Amino acid sequence: METLKMPPVDERESPEADIPQETAAAYEFQQGGNTSVDPLVEAIQQELGKSLQPTAQLGMPALTTDDLPYEEGEIFRAVNLTKAYGQGAAYLEVIKGISFCVKEGEYVVIYGPSGSGKSTLLHMLSGLEPPTRGEIRIRNHAIQKFTDDEMAIYHREEIGLVFQSFNLLDSLTALDNVAFPLMLSGAPREWRLHESYKMLDRFGLAEFAGHYPNQLSGGQQQRVSLARALVHDPALLLVDEPTGNLDTKAADVVMSEISRLHLQEKRTIILVTHNREFLKHATRVFYIRDGTLMTTNPEVEGEEHE
Ligand SMILES: Nc1ncnc2c1ncn2[C@@H]1O[C@H](COP(=O)(O)OP(=O)(O)O)[C@@H](O)[C@H]1O
Ligand SMILES: [Mg+2]
Repeated sequence: METLKMPPVDERESPEADIPQETAAAYEFQQGGNTSVDPLVEAIQQELGKSLQPTAQLGMPALTTDDLPYEEGEIFRAVNLTKAYGQGAAYLEVIKGISFCVKEGEYVVIYGPSGSGKSTLLHMLSGLEPPTRGEIRIRNHAIQKFTDDEMAIYHREEIGLVFQSFNLLDSLTALDNVAFPLMLSGAPREWRLHESYKMLDRFGLAEFAGHYPNQLSGGQQQRVSLARALVHDPALLLVDEPTGNLDTKAADVVMSEISRLHLQEKRTIILVTHNREFLKHATRVFYIRDGTLMTTNPEVEGEEHE
């Protein structure tokens, strides 16, 4: 099996050139703008019993990766992440200079309303979508500098992805859907199916191994997609609105499965959602609104939680 081989950081091109010293969001906060009361912010503050602060007020957007030495246990870092669509009159910034760190073992929930930029952020973190500005580092390696091979290894070994719409292949059985990512590993078919069956079993779906997605409930499909995301044993799980298409009961099952992955299996999880029920499971919560990230406890930002 191939292992993750990435060149050391200093062999790569210097990344700071395209990182702006100040983002529009930071500027806005410095100017005292954006102080309106948002009912969702209010609600989450009540829920958490803490007040939310825009991350821009921490001064992070002014930092470059040089100012932030790699810390032990750090898996993930976003620095000044910005995503814009369109040009001229149609120019729209959907992510406005977001910076944060995630350490091994954290369960980070990024909570915000529909249209706030959650999926865009997650797609950038997963390397599926390039940022317009800023930098994403995984274990201190800049994702934007990955070669195609490194990106493939990143997807095949480092991260597992779970989406709101399950994204299962209709023409494959549950078992083959779970086994699908292993095909790229070059491992023998028998081993791939064995691993996939074990994974389905862990999610209570062994008896549905031969079923096609359209023969499964939404909750079952989402658990198949969780099994698929985990079959290559990634340390980091990126999850986008996993209960968006589920009824409350199925959502509860998926929610507790994800918690188990964090608590028992010690996986690092970054989950974006507008479902408030996830907040109580998180070790750290960010709130996202209009492409700007806010956190509950700026003084411990980037440090080990609990
Ligand atoms: N490809 C695109 N082109 C233009 N605008 C986009 C594109 N993708 C997303 N957006 C816009 O970005 C904003 C954030 O979208 P999204 O990240 O999907 O939000 P969320 O996942 O929080 O609902 C929305 O206003 C959406 O319309
Ligand atoms: Mg979304």
